Amino acid sequence: MNIGIIGAGQVAQAFAHRAIEAEHNVVFSNRRGPDSLAALVEGFGPLASSATPSEAVENPVVLLAVPWPKIDTALRSLPTWYGQILIDATNGFEENGLVDFGDGSSSETVAALAPGARVVKAMNSLFMTNFVLDPVPDGFRRAVFVSGDDRAAKTEVADLFESFGFAPIDLGTLRKGGRMQAVGSTLAGHDFFLPWPAPRSFPAFNGER
Ligand SMILES: NC(=O)c1ccc[n+]([C@@H]2O[C@H](COP(=O)([O-])OP(=O)(O)OC[C@H]3O[C@@H](n4cnc5c(N)ncnc54)[C@H](OP(=O)(O)O)[C@@H]3O)[C@@H](O)[C@H]2O)c1
Repeated sequence: MNIGIIGAGQVAQAFAHRAIEAEHNVVFSNRRGPDSLAALVEGFGPLASSATPSEAVENPVVLLAVPWPKIDTALRSLPTWYGQILIDATNGFEENGLVDFGDGSSSETVAALAPGARVVKAMNSLFMTNFVLDPVPDGFRRAVFVSGDDRAAKTEVADLFESFGFAPIDLGTLRKGGRMQAVGSTLAGHDFFLPWPAPRSFPAFNGER
């Protein structure tokens, strides 16, 4: 699969590491332009490339991996979305601490800034230092939570993470599930391991799938 990435920092690189190991193509992008990513791309090998953010989103799946204060600028400068999947790995975290989304979730804000994209929240609860480790230690699989309102998109993202070797777990909607895996939640910062194969969703967590 061809995957565009908006961002080329810690999250983008951790994701690319696992994606390339699973033989997917990744296209990094950042603010400073594709040439600034030449050394990074070379280090990742032939399945990696760089482009502008506007070019990176011309892929069926796009990872959003920029700091929260940059979200608005990053998303508003992109061409119109036409149904691509946008995996939101961002956390609502800025200089003064956690952003208050009231009854909503950070990913709903992202979805509002990217009309036409099918937004799925994932990777938020994990430290990237753990994400890059073997997802299948001792026969168990490291869990990755996915939340979203578009079931087909959520299934595609779950399949993608499964191809990396993770155990995807459907946490429900962008609002409820998004809040459950966001920074500051009880799941955040913890690693979970499941025997494999495991059920993808646990209705006891969240009835609103
Ligand atoms: N680090 C973690 O363990 C972790 C885990 C889960 C979630 N998160 C969340 O994931 C997001 C990314 O974190 P990170 O640690 O990867 O950040 P990071 O290492 O600081 O990297 C940020 C990247 O975003 C790019 N960027 C900034 N503004 C941009 C714009 N307008 N258009 C395109 N690219 C832009 C930067 O490019 P330039 O260098 O050109 O500015 C840089 O490549 C954050 O929201 C964070 O809260 C982090």
